[in-house]
Amino acid sequence: MATRASPFVNDAVKGKVALITGGGSGIGYEISVQLGMHGAFVAIMGRRKAVLESAVSELRGLGISAVGFEGDVRKREDARRVVESTFQHFGRIDVLVNAAAGNFLVSAEDLSPNGFKTVLDIDAVGTFTMCHEALKYLKKGGQGKSPSEGGGVILNISATLHYTASWYQIHVSAAKAAVDALTRNLALEWGTDYDIRVNGVAPGPIGDTTGMDKLVPKEINSKAREYMPLYKLGEKWDIAMAILFLVCDAGKYINGTTLVVDGGLWLSRPRHLPKEAVNQLSRVVEKRSRDAPVGVPRSKI
Ligand code: COA
Repeated sequence: MATRASPFVNDAVKGKVALITGGGSGIGYEISVQLGMHGAFVAIMGRRKAVLESAVSELRGLGISAVGFEGDVRKREDARRVVESTFQHFGRIDVLVNAAAGNFLVSAEDLSPNGFKTVLDIDAVGTFTMCHEALKYLKKGGQGKSPSEGGGVILNISATLHYTASWYQIHVSAAKAAVDALTRNLALEWGTDYDIRVNGVAPGPIGDTTGMDKLVPKEINSKAREYMPLYKLGEKWDIAMAILFLVCDAGKYINGTTLVVDGGLWLSRPRHLPKEAVNQLSRVVEKRSRDAPVGVPRSKI
């Protein structure tokens, strides 16, 4: 269910056909809701039939024209079938959102190469495969598009943990770094050749998601919130609004960027000095510096 009223006009993406991988649950589902509530036709792709069926039924209950297709982004034949089924169902494809992802906490030492590869296959290779299969529909003059129309839009869900380094997330860091590279490279190649905009959204910790359940399970008493600049978790709605902005005309000149939606978390680190002490300490240090005799080595001051 949508959590808040939207600041966008309700026909912001009217008539666009959007295919969302991982659209049956979590952030992907909220993206499906918000695209649908703003006028898009929605196709969702996922591995679990029951989850898909329930999501499609809820989307239709909201008045959204929605359809679900079972498939695993790791399998090229699934990717091709789902893209083609979406085209056959709605007659065009304008938007591809790559939201399917895999994650689990594990130390690098305990992660098997196959575990590493599994997440790379879902997040990075899966994203590329979906983009590749959807290209002939998304491009300017592509199947289902009139010659006067521009190209479509691709949105890749990424993360911020590879901007620095993250504990027990080497597989996801590598995968999301690759996703960001796909976003920039496809924006360059397909933006130039086919008028397709390719952007990303990098969520921070979003409440009520599988990602949070896996990365900050209730069994651990996390101190993470103490380091959050806005001191709160994000909502799935925050990510869906960022996607909407990048898909609709407001984002028509944005290409090749990944919008970080994390409340500033990736910038944060433990405070080493209380704010109250900074001013006084700084004055003491400054005085010592100014009073120091010229030419005397620091070690002698
Ligand atoms: N710790 C260490 N290794 C793990 C692991 C864990 N918690 N979970 C899976 N692996 C390893 C497995 O051991 C296996 O490697 P191996 O063959 O060397 O033993 C490899 O990863 C594949 O595991 P498998 O269970 O066969 O993969 P799957 O395709 O059934 O599941 C996952 C894929 C593991 C990514 C699963 O967590 C998933 O489906 N996630 C989707 C939902 C999700 O994570 N959402 C959060 C998005 S942020």
